[in-house]
Amino acid sequence: MLIRRKPDLTENEVTPEALYRQRRRFIQSGFALAAGTLVPGLHAAAATLDGEQFTDLGASRFSTDEELTPFDSIASYNNFYEFGLDKDSPKELAQQMQTRPWEIAIEGECRNPMTIGIEDLLADFDMEERIYRLRCVEAWSMVVPWVGFPLSALLDKVEPTMNARYVEFRTLHDPDQMPGQRRGLFGYVLDWPYVEGLRMDEAMNPLTLLSTGLYGKVLPNQNGAPIRLVVPWKYGFKSIKSIVSIRLVEKQPLNSWQQQAPNEYGFYANVNPEVDHPRWSQAKERRVGEILRRDTLPFNGYAEQVASLYNGMDPKNLY
Ligand code: MTE
Repeated sequence: MLIRRKPDLTENEVTPEALYRQRRRFIQSGFALAAGTLVPGLHAAAATLDGEQFTDLGASRFSTDEELTPFDSIASYNNFYEFGLDKDSPKELAQQMQTRPWEIAIEGECRNPMTIGIEDLLADFDMEERIYRLRCVEAWSMVVPWVGFPLSALLDKVEPTMNARYVEFRTLHDPDQMPGQRRGLFGYVLDWPYVEGLRMDEAMNPLTLLSTGLYGKVLPNQNGAPIRLVVPWKYGFKSIKSIVSIRLVEKQPLNSWQQQAPNEYGFYANVNPEVDHPRWSQAKERRVGEILRRDTLPFNGYAEQVASLYNGMDPKNLY
């Protein structure tokens, strides 16, 4: 995250974005007619995956209507340290990652632990489209039309016990496929695999999404295929990619960036324009593709849904 920086993308890519928006409006208005009124959050039909493309995705009441970041920018300006430290290397190097077959183990403090293959997961859970802002700690942001389903739906299936106070996520650890996990000249960039964590109530919050796609297509490898977390009110490093393990635990997990630089990164990582990073301000952000910076919103604009989770806690300790 901190090692090298490149300027944000500013090119005005020609993308299918306008077409995509038109299609969404068409689908939504079709649904509005069918339902009698436009009630986002309801599903027109269960989504199916047709090749690389999801069809019949339901819209979400949590979606922002801000302008979407073009697909080309989302898929070419990435943080995925397993595939290099530059923003543009994951797009190239992640193509070698095999995402089929892929299994995710959900275990730990639960009554019904399971290991589920990605194909079954895609078939068993209702996918919907959620347009979320993603705010990176490096002060850039994007607006992404994710495809996914609430993490709570998966956690409900494994029946967490009373001891489950946190959830720990792990990315695949496979240095053969992930060149960034090999020991370099200066040792390891991070202590692999990449680990992240959420408190149980954060994990169960309806905003917390497991994503399997974006722009209606399966996730590009560089964005965390075949399944990643998206926690829109937290800095982007919480949104762990290419997950193979979800473990319910009693103690607060030590997440990778906190382990690497505890003076700079914490566990909560809630977006807060008033709490600076030790080396830069967090008050403003630049949307990828735009020139002028805009004000960063508390909780990345999701305060109404999540601020109450932190009642009584000092916001200064929630970085
Ligand atoms: N997950 C893993 N496994 N490895 C990473 O390096 N980077 C994080 C997060 N998830 C990262 C990760 C950071 S710092 C950000 S900002 C987001 O992924 C970027 O997601 P994107 O590339 O899809 O925009």
